[in-house]
Amino acid sequence: MSDPIESLTKSARQLIEIEQLLGGQFTPAEANSLPEVQLPKQPVRAAGGVAPEDKAAALDEMNENEVKVCTRCGLAGTRTQTVFGEGDPNAGLVFVGEGPGQNEDETGRPFCGRAGELLTKMIGAMGLSRSDVFICNVVKCRPPQNRNPMSDEVEACWPYLMRQLQIISPKVIVTMGNPATQKLLQTKRGITRLRGNWQELPELADSLGGIPVMPTFHPAYVLRNYSPQVRSDVWSDLKQVMTVLGLELPKDK
Ligand code: URA
Ligand code: SF4
Repeated sequence: MSDPIESLTKSARQLIEIEQLLGGQFTPAEANSLPEVQLPKQPVRAAGGVAPEDKAAALDEMNENEVKVCTRCGLAGTRTQTVFGEGDPNAGLVFVGEGPGQNEDETGRPFCGRAGELLTKMIGAMGLSRSDVFICNVVKCRPPQNRNPMSDEVEACWPYLMRQLQIISPKVIVTMGNPATQKLLQTKRGITRLRGNWQELPELADSLGGIPVMPTFHPAYVLRNYSPQVRSDVWSDLKQVMTVLGLELPKDK
């Protein structure tokens, strides 16, 4: 048996480390309300979009009737459950990650592990909470051993993400990490070159073309490379998003 004092000290140290990891630049801002804003460039919307009051039902229906029972790709055979995504169906801001990990596969919720804790802090630093935004992934089932999703899996799952984005019709999309960024922007350029610069969603499906996209580092990458530079890069990307959404920037940062 290990020395109880030593193990207490160890867990205290771990707690402090986690607090330092997740604190730092991402301290909560004053609560921000989400005003209606005019973007510099408004995407052209096709007629027949989903009315705000019908969005929740449209997303629920897709989740219940299609995603939860989906067997379109091999990941259906290894998942515990699907991870549709969650948040405000009328969100002006959607975060897109790559795919569920172990925690997400176990709970059915996106970004609920360690990377998710950091994402929650990042959203808090913007003066928002998870329920103000929508969080989802390119694939809805966990790739075994957390490998990157394969291209046939991404293709099979693609229509769900397209429809989620069409229904929500966000003002801004934040793509996190290479797989989500490269797929949504249809580019081979790396995240290091793309991040920090506004991009435009290509016309991937009706009414999606032109939505402003801010690529940023994946929170799991930030955790692995927790340098002041990487943190301030992400924070600067998020501040650009806040500016476009008309959110008030924290005064001291
Ligand atoms: N990483 C992702 O890309 N998505 C999640 O939901 C969790 C971790
Ligand atoms: Fe269906 Fe997507 Fe899951 Fe594949 S990853 S089984 S396409 S929901």
